[in-house]
Amino acid sequence: MISDEPHYVRKTEENSEASSLIAKHCKHKTNPLIFRMKFLSKIILAAAAMILIKFLVFREGKTQVPKATYPFHMQSDQSHKEVHSSKSAPVQDALNQRIEEIYNRIDKLIPKIKLKNFAEATSAEKSKATIVNQKDSYCLGEQLFVRVQAYDYLENIKSYGGDYLRARIFSPKTNSSASGNITDYNNGTYLIAFTLFWEGEVSASVLLMHPSEAVSALWRARNQGFDNILYTGNFTSATEYVNRKCGFQLETEEDICQYVDRRDQEAFYCIKPPNFPCEALTHMNSVNRNHSYLSEVEKLLLNRSNIGVEISKNFKTINVSNCGILDYFNHTEDEMQSWQKTLLAINLENFIYVQWKKHTFPFVSKTFYSIKEDAYMARQIDQIGGGINTILILTMGQHFRPFNFHIFIKSALNVRRAIERLFYRSPSTKVIIKEENARDMDIDMERFSDFHGHIQYHVLREVFHGLNVGFVDALDMTIAYACNVIHPPVEVLENIISMSFTQATS
Ligand SMILES: *[C@@H]1O[C@H](CO)[C@@H](O)[C@H](O)[C@H]1NC(C)=O
Ligand SMILES: *[C@@H]1O[C@H](CO)[C@@H](O)[C@H](O)[C@H]1NC(C)=O
Ligand SMILES: *[C@@H]1O[C@H](CO)[C@@H](O)[C@H](O)[C@H]1NC(C)=O
Ligand SMILES: *[C@@H]1O[C@H](CO)[C@@H](O)[C@H](O)[C@H]1NC(C)=O
Ligand SMILES: *[C@@H]1O[C@H](CO)[C@@H](O)[C@H](O)[C@H]1NC(C)=O
Ligand SMILES: *[C@@H]1O[C@H](CO)[C@@H](O)[C@H](O)[C@H]1NC(C)=O
Ligand SMILES: *[C@@H]1O[C@H](CO)[C@@H](O)[C@H](O)[C@H]1NC(C)=O
Ligand SMILES: *[C@@H]1O[C@H](CO)[C@@H](O)[C@H](O)[C@H]1NC(C)=O
Repeated sequence: MISDEPHYVRKTEENSEASSLIAKHCKHKTNPLIFRMKFLSKIILAAAAMILIKFLVFREGKTQVPKATYPFHMQSDQSHKEVHSSKSAPVQDALNQRIEEIYNRIDKLIPKIKLKNFAEATSAEKSKATIVNQKDSYCLGEQLFVRVQAYDYLENIKSYGGDYLRARIFSPKTNSSASGNITDYNNGTYLIAFTLFWEGEVSASVLLMHPSEAVSALWRARNQGFDNILYTGNFTSATEYVNRKCGFQLETEEDICQYVDRRDQEAFYCIKPPNFPCEALTHMNSVNRNHSYLSEVEKLLLNRSNIGVEISKNFKTINVSNCGILDYFNHTEDEMQSWQKTLLAINLENFIYVQWKKHTFPFVSKTFYSIKEDAYMARQIDQIGGGINTILILTMGQHFRPFNFHIFIKSALNVRRAIERLFYRSPSTKVIIKEENARDMDIDMERFSDFHGHIQYHVLREVFHGLNVGFVDALDMTIAYACNVIHPPVEVLENIISMSFTQATS
């Protein structure tokens, strides 16, 4: 469940994210039963088969229960020989103004560096991590402060911030780990605060994910154009199908099909094949084009060998003892599970069902996927009645990473408005925003770097501010676990699910 896509699309390379998950559960005071991941699929299946009429359920093993018929609200229009772009949608000043406002605020935070010489970039090896509050032994619950001073390859001290760092403490013996809280002083110095959650020997690591120069390049490239990913639409009739180029922007002399959601100003375009109506578009896929907005030196900065390199440190491990404090948090593998158990009480005599759905554009996938059952997230949320027994878990991010940031902001704002409408009709619905998890380090950074996810995460926090929604910080959790894979292992999923239900019932 949660942020993972169902089995049937997992095979493809770049379809990492479910857009929304609706879990409906009925609470009962008696007989609280422990809810474990292993039961999950059985519960979902049993319950779904019984009470699901209009929801789609995916489960490992490709089980599909009755299909949803979500009205596809997008209008498809044909138009003639114009250049279309997502920016040419009818002007709705308030929305566009808000998008620009958010965009500009983020834009100001990101360093603008034109790197000439590779050696002037931040070097993980030359940079130094040192303990600020050095001691022989630390107490459980205390904080450990680590200062990072950034240097370039020529051993010059860096005078500006913006390096994308990742920090964690961990004890391999007990599988315990936690992420650190990083403060950027914008002068080349960073302070990391770790809370010491468990006893024993604790190691710390600080990775330089991207030097600030690469961060600058990623941000510029992302917002520069749409040439990195090529969309193909599959127009189908009874006797044949044809493929045509699609995208957020098309420059062509040919006729165009516009798939526009007028209320929310979401738009996508395809070249119209002769003799097919625009509505005959049934499937879509995408491939990464052999194209880059990065210069050669920027590509080198983003080469795998320069991703996630550990910053040099002058210490090995620290010792943490309970200092006579009651041991409130035994963070071992077994205890992790009971920690989860006590927070997740579900009554099996009642029903639970889980629905997973993907969002429509810009879903990224090499294999053709149907676009007929899904809509923009805002439209799908509009289809949910809601109520006290409904938990809606949303995630958006991974598939937006390669595209202009305005597209992400617009979708997030539209989802916010849809949640406001949901709360209007059923204020007791629980809504959880599950944030993006960290992913692999050997992928195409220009399109899919975690840095894009990191920025999106900040915008989600801002956009949903003031709404009664919970957040599940999956980025943080996967950083702590250092599981840099798009589909985190089951123990991490357990934690994400546990967090989601904790948020939903608190
Ligand atoms: C740590 O996790 C690994 C992988 O999940 C597991 O094989 C191992 O038994 C765990 N170790 C402890 C001490 O729980
Ligand atoms: C991280 O540190 C900042 C101050 O630098 C603080 O405002 C914030 O609440 C901290 N976050 C967490 C999760 O501790
Ligand atoms: C950067 O700023 C912080 C906070 O103001 C300060 O403690 C630190 O010494 C500064 N670093 C350098 C290299 O000047
Ligand atoms: C287009 O869709 C049809 C029907 O789903 C499918 O048979 C065909 O393989 C698709 N085209 C391509 C190029 O995959
Ligand atoms: C991609 O483009 C570059 C330069 O345009 C070319 O050198 C390279 O061979 C191309 N790679 C592929 C896989 O087509
Ligand atoms: C890029 O990274 C790979 C994998 O770490 C490494 O083998 C290769 O030498 C690097 N290329 C350059 C030009 O640094
Ligand atoms: C931590 O404790 C171990 C054993 O108790 C000891 O050998 C080691 O020197 C201590 N490390 C530090 C940094 O004090
Ligand atoms: C933590 O829990 C594990 C498993 O229940 C146990 O073996 C271990 O002794 C406990 N550690 C402490 C410090 O209580």
